[in-house]
Amino acid sequence: MNKSIFNRFRDIAYEKAGISLSEQKKELVSARVAKRQRALNIADVSDYLNYLESANNNDEIVHFLDAISTNFTHFMREKSHFDLLQDELQLWRARGHDRLRIWCAASSSGEEPYSLAITVLDSFGGVLPNARILATDINTTVLAQASLGEYNGKSLEALTRAQRANYFERLTERRKSAEDSRYRVKKNVRELLVFKRLNLAKIPYPMNGPLDFVFCRNVMIYFDRVVRQRLITEVERLLIPGGLLMIGHSETLAGLTTGLKALKPSVYKKMA
Ligand SMILES: C[S@@+](CC[C@H](N)C(=O)[O-])C[C@H]1O[C@@H](n2cnc3c(N)ncnc32)[C@H](O)[C@@H]1O
Repeated sequence: MNKSIFNRFRDIAYEKAGISLSEQKKELVSARVAKRQRALNIADVSDYLNYLESANNNDEIVHFLDAISTNFTHFMREKSHFDLLQDELQLWRARGHDRLRIWCAASSSGEEPYSLAITVLDSFGGVLPNARILATDINTTVLAQASLGEYNGKSLEALTRAQRANYFERLTERRKSAEDSRYRVKKNVRELLVFKRLNLAKIPYPMNGPLDFVFCRNVMIYFDRVVRQRLITEVERLLIPGGLLMIGHSETLAGLTTGLKALKPSVYKKMA
């Protein structure tokens, strides 16, 4: 893929999803675009680009964004955030609250929002408060996987035996290997979640909050300062005073204008 073609793909990714693609991503974009070309039977990359850019081709824009976004995730990723959430939920309950709202802002294939739901269920046991977890992503393919809630045994290894037994049902016979066995999230976990497509680069976000916890992890790394600033201003608007934002361990809010206070690296609080 030559530079001018890559630059046009890069402009679309930035304009439509706020995703900044560096030159080093050229090979990756090339491979992912080639898949779309095969699916559409378009041999020439310039023809695909013209098709993508043609007026009102929103459907292909969605496919293109699905193809170029990176969706790596796993259950209980960066586990310290879930441990902290568990501690915070105890304090939250001790303060007498009963309406819990959590937003998972880049939920990928669901492992993160289901880990949140499992943490909530573990914390409250049978007496669940009025709890909802909103899980959003720009990528429709991973959102569909998340909504389906099916995973192989290998991916569940980050959970405890009790969590696997309490929150998943086995779909395949016992003798299958971890990789080949399939599990589905049980209804009591699924019921806590609402999945929606949301583009973090487009503000204002279509919700009013207030939110008690926002997990927005490992997505800001794809954004430049302008898009990160938009995102953080919106998260600050949506958080309840005292609410917490968790970002990825390799991310920071340094250089952004915000009233959120760092409690520790990757954990921020909206002050009352
Ligand atoms: C690397 S995954 C991180 C998943 C999860 N938060 C975690 O930490 O494991 C990044 C996710 O951000 C999503 N994403 C990228 N750009 C986005 C945007 N503009 N709006 C919403 N989600 C976006 C991708 O589709 C992908 O699922």
